[in-house]
Amino acid sequence: MRLSARQIADFEEQGYLFLPEAFDPAEVAALRAEIPGIFAQQRDEVWREKDGKAVRTAFAAHTYNEAFRRLAAHPRMVEPVMQLLDGPVYVHQFKINGKEAFDGDVWQWHQDYGTWARDDLMPEPRAMNVAVFLDEVTEFNGPLMFIPGSHKDGTLKAGHDLATTSYPLWTLDRATVTRLAEAGGIAAPKGAAGSAIVFHSNLVHASAPNISPWGRTIVYVSLCHVDNHIRQFKRPEWVAHRDFTPIAPLHDACLRDLGA
Ligand code: SIN
Ligand code: MN
Repeated sequence: MRLSARQIADFEEQGYLFLPEAFDPAEVAALRAEIPGIFAQQRDEVWREKDGKAVRTAFAAHTYNEAFRRLAAHPRMVEPVMQLLDGPVYVHQFKINGKEAFDGDVWQWHQDYGTWARDDLMPEPRAMNVAVFLDEVTEFNGPLMFIPGSHKDGTLKAGHDLATTSYPLWTLDRATVTRLAEAGGIAAPKGAAGSAIVFHSNLVHASAPNISPWGRTIVYVSLCHVDNHIRQFKRPEWVAHRDFTPIAPLHDACLRDLGA
């Protein structure tokens, strides 16, 4: 899958690209069918909210689940990022964020590269996320919020928040978020399950708690240029991967072929 010149220009300007319905209902169904089994597992990779029950984020499912292994190497995930980063990529991080109905907690304002640089010593922001909606995302169930254009400000000063949620995060202060949002506004792409968002690792983003009765499962595959691999192995392997092998994209029908 090739991005057009227009899409690349939009990405460079806004810091993200929304791809409505990039995956079809059968592909989404194949991935969704795996979620209950993954979320039911009691293993370190399945990180729960402060209540100890609702799943906040399930790491590294691509290492033990065939459907998600295929998603992580899907050409619609990998090829646009190879194009934008101009070369081969590996999986730096893989997570399925539950944002469960009623119980899904906040993700504070942050930049992903802020964490990757400070915790993992990733040399440059030559990495980005592809998010895939496994539920419809609406204004009610805690959509991702972006500050368009904020990726152009570089890596901003951040504090390590160990208290707000169950998950440690390098977060931005209110003055910084206010300054950036007054300049760029806030966008919250919403759409059907199967929609995808490619976003820059310095793009400032957050999401509110999900107090709606509808879950908001989103998968995030963080892809990094192989030359830009992390230099420090402080976090568990399943949070920040150490296999820097370039991904060989699978064929386009790989999720439809799952049962075959
Ligand atoms: C993240 O920024 O890593 C997660 C945000 C979300 O799932 O709402
Ligand atoms: Mn993030």
